[in-house]
Amino acid sequence: MSTRVDLRSDTVTRPSPEMREAMMSAKLGDDVLGDDPTVQELEARCIGLTGHEAAVFVPSGTMGNQIGIASQTQPGDSILVEDDAHILYYEVGALAVLNGLTVRSMPSTFGVVDPASLASRKLTASLHTPGTTLVCLENTHNRHGGTITSPEIHAETAQVAHDLGLKVHMDGARLWNAASALGLPIHAFTQHVDSVSLCFSKGLGAPVGSVLCGGAEHIERARIWRKRLGGGMRQSGLLAAACLYAVDHQFKDLQHDHRRAKILSDAINGLNGLTSPAPQTNIVMVDTDDSAESWVAKLADEGVDCFPFGPHRLRLVFHRDVSDTGLEIAIRAFRKLASS
Ligand SMILES: Cc1ncc(COP(=O)(O)O)c(C=O)c1O
Repeated sequence: MSTRVDLRSDTVTRPSPEMREAMMSAKLGDDVLGDDPTVQELEARCIGLTGHEAAVFVPSGTMGNQIGIASQTQPGDSILVEDDAHILYYEVGALAVLNGLTVRSMPSTFGVVDPASLASRKLTASLHTPGTTLVCLENTHNRHGGTITSPEIHAETAQVAHDLGLKVHMDGARLWNAASALGLPIHAFTQHVDSVSLCFSKGLGAPVGSVLCGGAEHIERARIWRKRLGGGMRQSGLLAAACLYAVDHQFKDLQHDHRRAKILSDAINGLNGLTSPAPQTNIVMVDTDDSAESWVAKLADEGVDCFPFGPHRLRLVFHRDVSDTGLEIAIRAFRKLASS
């Protein structure tokens, strides 16, 4: 029986034998030439799920975000992005380097942006100021601990943004988790935004792949950006088959990741020197008395891998390759270290 549990990220999952089988039997074409039937099936599925007009398969969530933004903005524009958004924090400056954009960052409450804050952050294009053209949202919010923005707040934010003449892009890498946790369809969250990037390689458990959804003209421009950045793939139906398998067979399992996250967080809250905000989905944040780096090292010695997320903060992410045994290993490690 395993004595280690890898809670660094939900991206570490390995494809199951059934998923590999689905990949092996996928019908293939050449997606850059537009004739890979399995990629077309995945894109059609995402159009149905999000309620958007068009979709394009891309290798990563980062590419989905960046080409989704590039194809709705012009170099020199400014965009509004939440302070801790993946797009700003973890995409190594792509907004500036690739897209020539200036960022006006916005505060949030646990990842939820106040719609009323948009107007005061927007700049009007002038001889002096870079006009604001787009707002980015993230759901669930990674750095805030897998927090959910409700469809009602999205609707309100999109309404305010549109009234201000701004487009709205959603980083929906983990939107599946929000949909699962609230028991709502994906389109409840996506119907009001102009574009959304969905990832299949996080909690859903596919090895690779994201889909950008949006309006037909927008996605045509995004296809050009995908090619420009080297993201055009050929027999990528192999990968799309894994994504389709993940949606059809693995989405339903996210609830177990959420359940285990809550059990771990509850167990930690009873321990000396540690607190954990109640997880809304699959991400557990832990605030530590001692330095986060030293906790990561001590936990690794006890068989638990996780990442520091601040000087006194750890992040532990549940995913489909963690069973109740893995959960037990983590609880046991925290109990032992907190009492030593
Ligand atoms: C919220 C969020 N958006 C986007 C991404 C980027 O995905 P990828 O690693 O596939 O580029 C991640 C990756 O973990 C993420 O957490």
